Amino acid sequence: MKSILSEKYNNNIYTVITNNPEETIELGKKLGNILNKGDLIAVNGELGTGKTCLIKGIAIGLESREEVTSPSFSIIKEYSAKIPIFHFDLYRLNRSEEIEGLGYEEYFYGEGVTLIEWPDKIKNYLPEKLLLINIFMDYDNLFSRKITFEAKGERYKKILEVLKSIEYIRN
Ligand SMILES: Nc1ncnc2c1ncn2[C@@H]1O[C@H](COP(=O)(O)OP(=O)(O)OP(=O)(O)O)[C@@H](O)[C@H]1O
Ligand SMILES: [Mg+2]
Repeated sequence: MKSILSEKYNNNIYTVITNNPEETIELGKKLGNILNKGDLIAVNGELGTGKTCLIKGIAIGLESREEVTSPSFSIIKEYSAKIPIFHFDLYRLNRSEEIEGLGYEEYFYGEGVTLIEWPDKIKNYLPEKLLLINIFMDYDNLFSRKITFEAKGERYKKILEVLKSIEYIRN
């Protein structure tokens, strides 16, 4: 796992390269460790880039007692953990308005941690403040991923600072 040092002094963005799924889980775990109730993480990335993999790690970091899966037909899954986890996989959402019927506000502004795959499907419903993650494939290396974290709002800047400091101590 490699942190991009040039971004050390930019509080809003952080980039990490992982070289296999285990490293992505490890990174997720570190993030999960420092999340609090009310936090919302939007995870972008093409099909099969590793969104669920990262979320698995986040759930481990939050001491989830249940395994994260990518369900074929359920849009929301809830896992019990140190803080309840609400896992949205919006891939099969046809229209953004469909989210209204799911009582999304109870989740986004509730007592748990919300993790969203395919957040762009509900752009207009997302809160302004969130942690935006993008996962990119490296077409030269099947097992490498570039993972960028972008903080929108002070709370998420803090999270990134802590996440960075964990990485820099380690390296
Ligand atoms: N560095 C890496 N990080 C994460 N996953 C990786 C990595 N290298 C290879 N992989 C593989 O990529 C796949 C990622 O699958 P995953 O279900 O997490 O993706 P996803 O983005 O959630 O897909 P979907 O769009 O279907 O929801 C897994 O098969 C995993 O083994
Ligand atoms: Mg997935």
